[in-house]
Amino acid sequence: MSKIKAGIIGVGSCAKSLVEGVQYYNENPEDKIGLMYEDIGGYSVHDIEFVIGFDIDKRKVNKKLAKALRAQPNCAMDHVDKITTTSNSSAVNKDAMVYSAPEMDGIAPHMHDYPDEVTFVNGAVPAESFERSVELLQYHDVDVLINYLPVGSEEASKYWIDVALEAGIHFVNCIPTLISTEDAMTTEQRFIDAGLTIVGSDMRSAWGASRMSEVLQGAMLDSGLMVTQHIQMNMAAGSTQGQEHIRTGRTANTDFLNMAKQYRLHNKHVSKENVLKGQNSVRGESTAGMTLFAGPSLTVQQKPGGDYISSDNKIANFDMVAYGFAGARYEMSARLSVQDSPNSGGVVVSAIRFCKVASEMGIVGYLRGPSAWTQKTPPLQLKTQDAKFECDALARRVLTDITTPQLKENRPKAKNLPHTFQDAKNDYEN
Ligand SMILES: NC(=O)c1ccc[n+]([C@@H]2O[C@H](COP(=O)([O-])OP(=O)(O)OC[C@H]3O[C@@H](n4cnc5c(N)ncnc54)[C@H](O)[C@@H]3O)[C@@H](O)[C@H]2O)c1
Repeated sequence: MSKIKAGIIGVGSCAKSLVEGVQYYNENPEDKIGLMYEDIGGYSVHDIEFVIGFDIDKRKVNKKLAKALRAQPNCAMDHVDKITTTSNSSAVNKDAMVYSAPEMDGIAPHMHDYPDEVTFVNGAVPAESFERSVELLQYHDVDVLINYLPVGSEEASKYWIDVALEAGIHFVNCIPTLISTEDAMTTEQRFIDAGLTIVGSDMRSAWGASRMSEVLQGAMLDSGLMVTQHIQMNMAAGSTQGQEHIRTGRTANTDFLNMAKQYRLHNKHVSKENVLKGQNSVRGESTAGMTLFAGPSLTVQQKPGGDYISSDNKIANFDMVAYGFAGARYEMSARLSVQDSPNSGGVVVSAIRFCKVASEMGIVGYLRGPSAWTQKTPPLQLKTQDAKFECDALARRVLTDITTPQLKENRPKAKNLPHTFQDAKNDYEN
């Protein structure tokens, strides 16, 4: 079986974890912990190779991909001693480079207020043209393009979807763009017409705040409870886990710094709440009157000034209220502290392989099972067990009621495929 070649848009902390993670499993083939799927249609994690990247940061552009992944301000933990390109366990192709991308709306103005070591530094060489980017991706035989741009990169995400469609490449949209049903349908039709697959949008981590909220919400509803409050607060503060030698300073990764401004995180907020609402809607349960909030922290703002420590540690606090048997009240709170970037690596190494396998089976458009399993705002929200069922079937190359209509030969139309209605706004907006 030939390698699945992957390209990366936004060579940040998540990209670092993803690539180093693949090398880690290549170096430690007996270790399967952290992999949601060992085998997807005959492809293992060892079959993924990273061949190209695009970024805007001076410290990454025109550098070897292996070098750029370790450049500042990336702060995900190191999974391997060195990112190699020429050993049998390398995950990065020896010729893989990072090319210059158009900035568009990738960098929020407030990011320039932070010290260079913790923020993006733009001003690299002029961006490659659209046509040249298509050529580069085709030259490197890229199968799957991964969108790891900062939250709020609406325009830039659309640009890279156009590039992927032109180049004939599958797409994994790890960020909260194109989240409304209308956008999802239009995008899906374009991938169907091009005979390609897409997984999206807004990845969820293997065991992160979204997965926890989804499982808790779903399990409470399945236990006959009525959930009246579900608050999920996320913050990048309070811990220098992994950097205990540094004791003071504000801690955050660029993902959190970028979302320090409300306008920048709007779609992230909506997408996170889609996870909660989705579990109600798949069960035909209303969320009317429920206090529902899931978003980056409103209390811990990463303000400019002072000392900063790049840290990939994230803390999520959950607070839930429910009512059950004969009106009995339940209260539950929980706290999750995780390394943010590696937590998403396990889902992306699956999404990449699902795209490849589905396309080999003749499936086109949004992969509904893998999107529900690996993303916060899939086109179709599913119960946890149904999303897993769909992924398991695809991993065995078995068609289901959901994937059969998406076979190319059935000439699927996006508007006739199943969707969960999703607005592009949260409950607090009109
Ligand atoms: N567990 C997780 O960490 C997690 C979960 C869900 C979603 N996400 C999302 O995934 C995305 C990537 O996360 P991350 O932690 O790697 O972010 P990051 O800030 O570390 O990396 C973003 C990268 O994009 C680059 N960039 C900025 N503008 C660009 C442009 N116009 N073109 C090309 N590159 C550009 C930056 O230089 C940087 O290298 C974010 O949107 C994040 O919200 C992350």
